[in-house]
Amino acid sequence: MADDNLHARMHSVSGETRRIVDEVLEYSRRRILADGTPLDHAASEAELRRIAGTTIDEAGIGASRALAIFEHVLAPACITTDHPQFLSFIPSAPSKAAIAFDLVVSASALYGGSWLEGAGAVHAENEVLGWLAGEFGLPAGAGGVFVQGGTIGNLSALVAARDDARIRADDPSGSRGRWVIVCSAEAHSSIVSAARVMDVDVVTVPADEDGVLRAPAVRRALEEHGDRVIAVVATTGSTNFGIVDDVAGIAALKREFDFWLHIDGAYGLTAMLSPLARDLFRGVEEADSVIVDPHKWMFAPYDACALIYRDPETGRRAHTQHAGYLDVLTDSADWSPSDYAVQLTRRPRGLPLWFSLATYGAGAYRQAIGHSLELARRIAAEIAARPELSLVREPQLSVVVFEREGWERADYDRWSARLLEEQRAFVVPSSHAGRPNARFAIVNPLTTFEQLTGILDTMR
Ligand SMILES: Cc1ncc(COP(=O)(O)O)c(C=O)c1O
Repeated sequence: MADDNLHARMHSVSGETRRIVDEVLEYSRRRILADGTPLDHAASEAELRRIAGTTIDEAGIGASRALAIFEHVLAPACITTDHPQFLSFIPSAPSKAAIAFDLVVSASALYGGSWLEGAGAVHAENEVLGWLAGEFGLPAGAGGVFVQGGTIGNLSALVAARDDARIRADDPSGSRGRWVIVCSAEAHSSIVSAARVMDVDVVTVPADEDGVLRAPAVRRALEEHGDRVIAVVATTGSTNFGIVDDVAGIAALKREFDFWLHIDGAYGLTAMLSPLARDLFRGVEEADSVIVDPHKWMFAPYDACALIYRDPETGRRAHTQHAGYLDVLTDSADWSPSDYAVQLTRRPRGLPLWFSLATYGAGAYRQAIGHSLELARRIAAEIAARPELSLVREPQLSVVVFEREGWERADYDRWSARLLEEQRAFVVPSSHAGRPNARFAIVNPLTTFEQLTGILDTMR
C-alpha cells in the first residue's frame, strides 16, 4: 500500500484485511462448532500479564499474534459460559444459530437506536417483542426495546413507573414524601440498585416460607405506604431459587390500589413459553411492564434483556432524549428503540434471538425449556432420595438448591474449587437464611441427568 494511504489501512479492503477477516472467521468457526470446549478457569492478573505480554504498542503486534494470544492465553482464562456443566448464578446457553448470527450483526455495522438508521433491524426486533408480549398475554400494542440486561431493564421500567405516577399524581412539589417501590425480600439486587439510582425508597415485603410473595403481604405495604408507592415488583423466577411470586393475587390488588405492576422475569419468565410451567404465571397479562433476559434462558448470547411496556407510550414519555441534533428523530412518529429505556446509542441486540427463533421456530424453544424444567424436577427427586442431601426448597422452575448434611461454608468452597480444578463442573456455593448451600441453575439443553448425579456423587 502506498505510504500516502497509510491513514486508510484500518478501513480499506486489502490483502491484509482479507487475512485478518479469514483468521477471525476461521477461529470463530472452530469455536462455534467445537465439541467439548473445556470449562476453563480464571488466572491471576500477574500470570496473564506475564504470559500475554504487552499487546498494545505503537506499531501494533498484528492480527495473527493478537488472535493467538486471545485463543491460547485470554480465552482459556474465561469460564466457558455455554458449557453444559456451568450451573452457577444464572448461566447462558446461546443456540448455535444465535451465536453465528451475532457475527452477522457486527459484520453489518447496524445501528439499532432509531428507525431512521436501522428500520430493518428494529422491525425484526419488534416482531420478537410483539411475539413475546403475546406469549405473556399482554394486549396488542404492547412493546418496548432490547436493553443490555435485567438491571437496566428493571431500572428503565421503574423510571417509567415513577414518571407515570408523577403525572397521575399531579404533584410537582412532591408533597407526598418519598416515592416507594415495593418488592419481595427475595427480589433481585438490581431492584435496590435501581432505587438507589432513582433516589427512591424500597419497601421489602417478606415472602412466605416457600419463597413466594403473595397478595396479603403486598396489601399491608400498600395500606401502609399508600399513594407513595410507584410500583410493585413481582419476580417470576427468583435468582436464588427460581420461585415465582403469586402474580395473579398481586395483580388483583390493582382493583383496590393504584400502582404500576412490574414483572422481573429476567430469568424465569421464559418458562411461560412451556406448557409445563405456564400455569405458574397467571396474572402476568395484567402487568404494566415486564422484563425477560434472552441471554439467560432464551438461548441468545450476552447481552440482551427484552423490556416490554403494556402501553409503550409510558416508556417513550419517560425516556426520550431531546436535543437539537435529535430533532430529526424525535419530530418523527417513527418507532425509535432508544426512546424506551435509559440509553441512546444501541446495538440491535435482539437480532441474534430473532434469527434463532426464525431458524428453529418457537416449538424448539418450548421443548428446550421443557427439558430443563423436567431435568430440574428429576434431579430434585434424586437429591431428596440421597440421605446425605436435602432440598432447601422444592423447585418450581430450573433452579435446585440443596444442602449437604454437616457441611460448613468452607466445605462447599473446597468442593466447588475441586470441581472446577478437575474441569468437571462450575458450581459455586450459595446461601439462604445464613446457611450455605449448593445450587444447580439449569438452562442448557445439553445438561444431562447423569452429569448432575456425577456431581452429586462427589459430595458423598
Ligand atoms: C430475577 C433477576 N432480575 C434481574 C437480574 C439482573 O439481570 P442482568 O444480570 O442481566 O443485569 C437477574 C440476574 O440474574 C435476575 O435473576
